[in-house]
Amino acid sequence: MNTVNPERTANPGHPVLDVVKERYSPYIFSGDPVEKDKLLSCLEAARWAASGFNEQPWRYIVADRGDTEAWKKALSCLVEANQAWAKNAGVLILACAKKTFTYNGSPNPTYFHDLGLAGANFTLQAQSLGLHVHMMAGIDADAIRTRYEVPEDYEPHTAIALGYADKPENGDPELAERDQGPRERKPLEEWVFGTSWGQSSPSL
Ligand SMILES: Cc1cc2nc3c(=O)[nH]c(=O)nc-3n(C[C@H](O)[C@H](O)[C@H](O)COP(=O)(O)O)c2cc1C
Repeated sequence: MNTVNPERTANPGHPVLDVVKERYSPYIFSGDPVEKDKLLSCLEAARWAASGFNEQPWRYIVADRGDTEAWKKALSCLVEANQAWAKNAGVLILACAKKTFTYNGSPNPTYFHDLGLAGANFTLQAQSLGLHVHMMAGIDADAIRTRYEVPEDYEPHTAIALGYADKPENGDPELAERDQGPRERKPLEEWVFGTSWGQSSPSL
């Protein structure tokens, strides 16, 4: 049960796993550190994600808030709007991916997809451990490439804030506003199709 912010719990139309229901992307993190064993479990879950040709194209640059130099470096690679709330997470991850297959050097058409799968595994493992994840596209990819000397064949894509969510009333009021109200989703009928595009599937 998500006791920190029950308002953000999903209201699914069909039964889903508790971790799916209770996951949300918090803007209010407590600033508490993440235990090392929990971080390792999340990384391990990402490790076991499926990927095209088992290429495992994901690469994570990990910064713990306890390591001031690493933390400042990673935080400075986020756009300012994201820094404003991600600074209270426990761990920041700059997620990169390899664009080509290792076995023959040809473009890997699923590298970005597979980075997402690793992130999904990471997120649900985090949720099961009482942690929350907030993903970000708002990064400075050029800064990441330069400051971490990311090789040409790899692309910085997203960032992951991992930490303990806090109650909205404990956070900055402007940010807290974004952590309130019910979460919304399109109904299945709008995106699950049957015999033709745009026609709801008869399986529904
Ligand atoms: C790939 C990706 C990139 C995102 N980028 C940002 C971002 O840069 N800043 C931000 O505040 N939220 C970002 N989000 C969070 C989304 O806005 C959020 O997942 C969406 O509104 C649905 O809310 P929920 O995760 O609480 O269900 C991102 C999420 C994903 C999956």
